[in-house]
Amino acid sequence: MNIVVVNGSPRANGRTRFLAKQIADSNNFTNLDLAFEQVPLYNGEAEQKEIEAVKAIRELLVKADGIVICTPEYNNAMSGALKNLVELLGSEPFKKKPISLLAVAGGGKGGINALNSMRTVIRGVYGNALPKQLVLDPVDFENDTVVKPEAFAKVAEVIDELKEYVQKEILYKEYIESNSVSK
Ligand SMILES: Cc1cc2nc3c(=O)[nH]c(=O)nc-3n(C[C@H](O)[C@H](O)[C@H](O)COP(=O)(O)O)c2cc1C
Repeated sequence: MNIVVVNGSPRANGRTRFLAKQIADSNNFTNLDLAFEQVPLYNGEAEQKEIEAVKAIRELLVKADGIVICTPEYNNAMSGALKNLVELLGSEPFKKKPISLLAVAGGGKGGINALNSMRTVIRGVYGNALPKQLVLDPVDFENDTVVKPEAFAKVAEVIDELKEYVQKEILYKEYIESNSVSK
């Protein structure tokens, strides 16, 4: 099962970044970290598709069976870094793919706006944003770097749903291939 976890926080010490890393490490998933990727601001020019970082990210996500997207809530929405990435990549890496959404907020009852904006954007690139979702607050972290066990148990429920959908997709593709049925 090839699952990529995207950190959508541009901050090297962002809580979202630590959440994404913890999910990737504890599940043996690949971590795509926007705090360190050198991606340009989308400008619509064809040359941007040939930039090594953009090509590598596209390839990584296209090959993934499923994606976990972790976004910070910034100004009542998903991060600009994540939205920029979607604009750079277009729908190819997301289309028909099971995608889990998690948000990290500032603790003032935020987070749902980030999830809703991300759900709308993922729908716009034909991704299959799954029903379970979760907001984490600063209180859910130890030293702002490690998700506490009680909170991480809730994260695991979101990830379990993704694994279930990915497994179904894999079985479906195997069935189609073994029976030479066209989709
Ligand atoms: C530019 C900016 C805007 C923010 N806006 C919100 C917000 O609208 N709602 C909220 O709950 N928290 C907001 N926060 C707090 C972040 O959600 C909080 O820092 C959280 O840890 C996720 O961001 P991080 O991964 O970069 O740490 C904002 C933080 C920054 C830096």
